[in-house]
Amino acid sequence: MKIKATSQVLGVIGDPIAHSFSPDMHNAAIDALGIDFCYVAFRVKSEGVGAVVKGLREFGILGLNVTIPHKLAVMEHVDQISEEALAVGAVNTIHNEDGNLTGHNTDVYGVTTAIERVAGLTTFPETCVVLGAGGASRAVTYALGRRDEVRKVMILNRTFSRAEALAVDMEKITGKSIVPAALDQASERAAFGDAGLVVNTTSVGMHPNTEHSPIIDTDSIRPDLVLYDTVFNPIETAIMQQFKEKGAPAYGGLDMLVFQGARSFEIWTGTEPPTDLMKQAVVGRFS
Ligand SMILES: NC(=O)c1ccc[n+]([C@@H]2O[C@H](COP(=O)([O-])OP(=O)(O)OC[C@H]3O[C@@H](n4cnc5c(N)ncnc54)[C@H](OP(=O)(O)O)[C@@H]3O)[C@@H](O)[C@H]2O)c1
Repeated sequence: MKIKATSQVLGVIGDPIAHSFSPDMHNAAIDALGIDFCYVAFRVKSEGVGAVVKGLREFGILGLNVTIPHKLAVMEHVDQISEEALAVGAVNTIHNEDGNLTGHNTDVYGVTTAIERVAGLTTFPETCVVLGAGGASRAVTYALGRRDEVRKVMILNRTFSRAEALAVDMEKITGKSIVPAALDQASERAAFGDAGLVVNTTSVGMHPNTEHSPIIDTDSIRPDLVLYDTVFNPIETAIMQQFKEKGAPAYGGLDMLVFQGARSFEIWTGTEPPTDLMKQAVVGRFS
């Protein structure tokens, strides 16, 4: 890639940011397409978020990804917010169109596309289970709840009150039955019995605590119960291993990461990026 005076700038803001895979993914796509863009990472402190978003207009920066801890804070600094980002309550992508800033959430597209294309579920099961009630859970619960064929989503979380609050919110937004429960053995057993898909959105099992899993009782895992784990580091998590040992299909969060990035890229450039190369670029960071 040759950065020129004409190059359009894209980037990601977060704190910390040095661990981010986004520059690898996006610059791989830019290189492959031979387009005049570059993508950089900015470590931004919370107190600087407003100035940075304002600065997008001044610098003419075309787009930003937004990661922890700024996904909520940027919402008050953009000009409009997409329907999905409003529903999820978080912006992970900002698009600057001649000074007019739109906040998007591409995690919804990311997880939906990963489940459809990689897990092969073109039709989602009527009953789905989401483990966790944090930021990723909001995007996943919304993604599941807005599918016509999904009737019920169960949210299991360590802190029951967070599952309850999220369920109330998502039931209003999606019009589906969203049922909260504690993350314990009895709830897992009851929820898994009805479900066709489990999505893990807890951070349990994430590097460096790779031996941990949110599943307490593996007897409730049936061979036809599909797991999608949003955790992408490590590529194969402990919960994925538990499902595979029971003969059940299990998929990791790398594809969600790639597809949410691909959607951001498409919003900014109007071009569909090569997702296989974006994925290779991330996998390259692990080896
Ligand atoms: N693949 C992707 O593109 C993608 C995108 C976004 C996020 N993610 C992944 O999703 C995961 C969660 O991210 P987030 O932003 O939602 O984080 P978050 O808002 O901090 O939520 C963390 C969730 O994990 C639960 N949890 C944490 N430690 C636990 C433990 N020891 N036992 C049981 N539950 C525990 C929390 O439960 P409490 O409410 O009880 O604290 C909460 O539900 C991370 O691993 C992240 O990498 C992946």
